Amino acid sequence: MTPFRLDGRVAVVTGASSGLGAHFAAVLARAGADVVVAARRSDMLAAVAAAVEAEGRRCLAVPTDVTDAAQCDALIDAAVDGLGGVHVLVNNAGTGYGGRSERDDPARAARLLEVNLLAAYQMAAAAGRAMIAAEAGGSIVTISSALALATTDVPQAAYSASKAGLLGMTRDLARQWARHGIRVNALAPGFFASEMTAPLLAHERGAASVHAATPLGRVGRLDELDGPLLLLASDAGSYITGSTLTVDGGMAMH
Ligand SMILES: NC(=O)c1ccc[n+]([C@@H]2O[C@H](COP(=O)([O-])OP(=O)(O)OC[C@H]3O[C@@H](n4cnc5c(N)ncnc54)[C@H](OP(=O)(O)O)[C@@H]3O)[C@@H](O)[C@H]2O)c1
Repeated sequence: MTPFRLDGRVAVVTGASSGLGAHFAAVLARAGADVVVAARRSDMLAAVAAAVEAEGRRCLAVPTDVTDAAQCDALIDAAVDGLGGVHVLVNNAGTGYGGRSERDDPARAARLLEVNLLAAYQMAAAAGRAMIAAEAGGSIVTISSALALATTDVPQAAYSASKAGLLGMTRDLARQWARHGIRVNALAPGFFASEMTAPLLAHERGAASVHAATPLGRVGRLDELDGPLLLLASDAGSYITGSTLTVDGGMAMH
């Protein structure tokens, strides 16, 4: 399993205060990485940082609103100054909502696109600058969604657009930065229990529509993302760039 190890590397995880991001921080630490965790809720970040430190790794908790480009830069600076660099970025912060588009509020859609797409671009640019300067390569893993590639009966066009946009961003950055040894890939999860999906999955019809859209017939367990994340983050994926890895029970198969 050595190629999947991240000993001596520093990973930055955005949206690490809850859900997938909190889980990813612990997974990366178990693989040997020191971790910088970022989100707005500092009390929850502190709990995640304690979990990382319990794995014997160093952790910095950096309260960050990723929609502010200056805070994205400050987050990467904190990783470089505090832990010696940034080798992995897990671009995970995100938000979502459902509802029919003919009744959608344009300001709400714009805010979603700002968090899910523009902020992810700002974070990737900030990490890319540091990785290029360090001349040591790196890996950027952007958390897209199976909804970039497939639909369910739950209407969420703004969310799907933001997550599809991340796939275009991933491909272009992968081509731009290949010459620097920086790999850029997307992970596209199906449905997993989190704060974001709790209202949908608690609703009988919502849960039924997710199960119906998923050939494996169930939501994913968080640990089912561990191998795919580490594949893209580590040297195990050293020849993978510009790709989208679906982890979705078959939802987006084609
Ligand atoms: N759960 C799923 O089924 C699923 C499936 C596919 C993709 N995803 C994606 O996975 C990612 C994580 O979602 P989740 O399901 O784990 O939901 P979650 O528990 O609601 O986590 C969202 C995270 O994003 C952070 N965040 C939101 N806005 C932010 C901002 N402006 N600045 C910094 N951090 C911000 C939140 O932290 P603060 O509120 O503390 O800032 C939180 O840590 C998202 O990109 C989501 O689209 C999830």
